[in-house]
Amino acid sequence: MERLQKYIAACGVCSRRKAEEYIAQGKVSVNGEIITEMGFKVGEDDVVRYMGKVILPEEKKVYLVINKPKGCVTSVSDDRGRKTVMDYIKGIDERVYPVGRLDYNTSGLLILTNDGETANRLTHPKHNINKVYVALVQRIPEPAEVFFFENGIFLDGRKTAPAKLEVISEEPPSLKITIHEGRNRQVRRMLEEIDNKAVSLKRISIGEIELGRLKKGKFREMTESEIDYIKNC
Ligand code: URA
Repeated sequence: MERLQKYIAACGVCSRRKAEEYIAQGKVSVNGEIITEMGFKVGEDDVVRYMGKVILPEEKKVYLVINKPKGCVTSVSDDRGRKTVMDYIKGIDERVYPVGRLDYNTSGLLILTNDGETANRLTHPKHNINKVYVALVQRIPEPAEVFFFENGIFLDGRKTAPAKLEVISEEPPSLKITIHEGRNRQVRRMLEEIDNKAVSLKRISIGEIELGRLKKGKFREMTESEIDYIKNC
């Protein structure tokens, strides 16, 4: 049970002080009855209305980072009955959902949140956030292929934005690839365009958010500074 003015503020209607004014003005009802008494307490089952409209507490915003294993989809459910990334999210009451996508066979960093506004901003093409991948490939590309890859490749008739390709190791041949967009199977298709293939693909960062040492299938809450970053990038 909590005080009515606190409940109204938790619904995002106004401040507690303002809520007291609204209560005194008879603008608030509980279970159909106008309440003007200040100490009135409400619980989960009470229906509170402000100016006739039902108000509900705002959901707490949650920001998670998961190390997605390969062999699962990044949707909330799958009509083919495949494992989804949500199967790994336990003990979180809020209804979070994945931001953007990773292929079934791609592993690594994925953000989940219930903050729709931030999710939309992060996935909007104009935001130009670096996404970094590590790819185990068939062979180390030739310099001309690296040039071609970095300067833009036509996928679906549209050139990719400038990318970066760095060799991490010659044997096994592995590359660090930085792209700025999130087009469908983008890294895999860009590699195919230079006659190569991602044998495995893992995302290690999105802007300043890094996968770090998070184990496969494990998730963590973002730190305050990470939340600050994704809300303002
Ligand atoms: N590029 C791909 O090809 N696949 C992913 O999952 C992400 C980026």
